[in-house]
Amino acid sequence: MSAQGTDKNVRVSIPKLQERARTGEKLVMLTCYDASFARISDDAGVDMLLIGDSLGMVVEGHDSTLPVTIEATEYHVRCVARGSDRALVIGDMPFGSFQESPAQAFHNAARLIAAGAQMVKLEGGAVMAETTKFLVDRGIPVCAHIGLTPQSVHTLGGYRVQGKQDAAAERLLEDAKANEAAGAAFVLMEAMPAALAKRVTDSLSVPTIGIGAGPDVSGQVLVNYDMLDIYPGRKARFVKNFMQGAPSVKGAIEAYVKAVKAKTFPGAEHSF
Ligand code: KIV
Repeated sequence: MSAQGTDKNVRVSIPKLQERARTGEKLVMLTCYDASFARISDDAGVDMLLIGDSLGMVVEGHDSTLPVTIEATEYHVRCVARGSDRALVIGDMPFGSFQESPAQAFHNAARLIAAGAQMVKLEGGAVMAETTKFLVDRGIPVCAHIGLTPQSVHTLGGYRVQGKQDAAAERLLEDAKANEAAGAAFVLMEAMPAALAKRVTDSLSVPTIGIGAGPDVSGQVLVNYDMLDIYPGRKARFVKNFMQGAPSVKGAIEAYVKAVKAKTFPGAEHSF
């Protein structure tokens, strides 16, 4: 068994994923909240499993991600870590668990790492760069999340595409650069014009992961309950139902992996 993370049953490392993105391979991320989906997604070839705070909506039945707790996230990280052995496990820091201070963020991020995550994700732009640096300097890898940040839904006035105006686009570019400079290993961009996401991707040396950010990014992420058509709520434009025509849940996830790697998803109809 290789220690490089290329074999089945060896968890892939962050440097390995960064290297694969540099060679032009598209990275595949999918949300996941339990051990059975983790096993299926791992076997289907997903590179990164995100225990997103979307769990508040698709698992817990809330109408936003805001009520999710660190205890719930920790529990779901444990389930996903137990069910997978190859994909990188990323724990999403819930609302209120990291915004107060870098020390608060470290305390809660350490809980997710101890539960089995290899990385945490933080919503927020340049304002979170100090926290990103604090965590990275202390051994906790960070994925920054910019653009539409659902934890700020009340400030943003709804789940809207971000960066459509010139000034807002420049701010998002600065948000990405500030987090890269602070040591973020990945920058996730949600609901942004495809041209802006390309510009950000071209400006960074770390991989970008898009959701509603068009095709010109280093990788894609979707909420698994959306792409499997389980979640009964409203679907965003960027969601594709991969269950359509698939023989099984595993077949649908394999189709998603194949489409991202082959650059056939997302299409223009999923982009802004
Ligand atoms: O919580 C989540 O599932 C996310 C993805 C939408 C990126 O943050």
